[in-house]
Amino acid sequence: MSMEASPGVLPAQDAALGVNEAGHLTVAGCDAVELARRFGTPLYVLDELAVRGRCRAYRREMGAFGSDHGVIYASKAFMAKGICRLMDQEGMHLDVVSGGELFTAMSAAFPPERIFFHGNNKTPEEITYALEAGIGRFVVDNPAELELLEERAARRGVRAAALLRITPGIEAHTHEYVRTGSIDSKFGFTLATGEAMAGVRRALELAHVELKGLHCHIGSQILETEPFALAARVMVDLLAQIRRESGICLGEVDLGGGLGIRYTAEDRPPTVTEFAVATAGTVRRRAEELGLESPRVLVEPGRSIVGEAGVTLYTVGSAKEIPGVRYYLGVDGGMGDNPRPALYGAVYRGLLADRPLAAPEGTVTVAGHCCESGDVLVRDLPLPHARRGEILAVLATGAYNYSMASDYNRFPRPAAVLVREGRARLLIRRETYQDVAALDELPEMQP
Ligand SMILES: Cc1ncc(COP(=O)(O)O)c(C=O)c1O
Repeated sequence: MSMEASPGVLPAQDAALGVNEAGHLTVAGCDAVELARRFGTPLYVLDELAVRGRCRAYRREMGAFGSDHGVIYASKAFMAKGICRLMDQEGMHLDVVSGGELFTAMSAAFPPERIFFHGNNKTPEEITYALEAGIGRFVVDNPAELELLEERAARRGVRAAALLRITPGIEAHTHEYVRTGSIDSKFGFTLATGEAMAGVRRALELAHVELKGLHCHIGSQILETEPFALAARVMVDLLAQIRRESGICLGEVDLGGGLGIRYTAEDRPPTVTEFAVATAGTVRRRAEELGLESPRVLVEPGRSIVGEAGVTLYTVGSAKEIPGVRYYLGVDGGMGDNPRPALYGAVYRGLLADRPLAAPEGTVTVAGHCCESGDVLVRDLPLPHARRGEILAVLATGAYNYSMASDYNRFPRPAAVLVREGRARLLIRRETYQDVAALDELPEMQP
């Protein structure tokens, strides 16, 4: 039986969820119904202290294995200038995968030397932009990109510090579409085919690329520690092989992100401590076994930093009952603000913000407002009978929701607010109809 079916119990999340005297859901001390009234819906709500808490946990637990570590926030999970500022304040590094993410970070005055640039097809312009910005590391994805980086860095007369992204061939138990570590992957230098070692040899020859270490990322929403430990071991073994072959001891290993979060009551993700033991702990132990100097260990979590800190608020609208089949509850958002259920069947929990502790009276399927039958946000959600105008809160929406949002059907993208100790501040303003049509031209045309 899922948590939602138990009246009187709020699901455990990083976001500080509570119930106030009005009987309404609160997030970090803010009345969710009030937030919906004040800022409109749909509304992304992010608990600031929950995000800061996760950053601190990562830095503390990784630090337990030696001071030489780094925690890189994968900004693809939720990118905004305000998030960059928060990450800077928390001493985090930042992973960007595009010129747009880099621009956002630079606009927020994020220290460029703490930026890691990822992506499997960086354009020459993006590489030049990142070189000009003076970013900390290029995570080079493939042989062609290695040559491109050399050429662009040579043109500017600089040496670009780089990690090589390795595909270690480890399968984590996760959804196929978000798996990136197996051999059949568009990412990285494949270990099993010898491409990885060839890439390392080539990188070490280049005059304008300074190879600092290796990177891998084995998948996302991973709910066990073994794949991380296995990846850590494989990467240290590769460092040892490089030392044997070249005499060079690379000093950094970045083990990517991927730690899962609690989307459902059944999800039991490892703690950050367990993750640190599996990653930094394994690197240290394996390096000792092989007589290697322990490299600097980096990790790059995204989802597990912001995911559970987020809640999305929707206003309940129309309903459609098909007797004996299904009860559809319509809300004023959908795949535009959260494409994950439509894209890969992601599962969410939700509750009524007006009456979060009320006993469920049945199960509903929360239908989005987009013109797609597949636009369903939550299936079979136990809920009290919801009335038009009530507020539905969908939980654990902090990661890969706003950042994957679109204005499909020209629904404006929602606003996002940061909440902390009963106070709400705008993080991203709501799009207007003018914003939605702002880039359109009306070219001259004949009938
Ligand atoms: C290279 C890389 N690093 C880090 C991440 C962050 O992963 P997660 O949000 O699962 O922690 C991703 C996600 O796709 C990624 O591709």
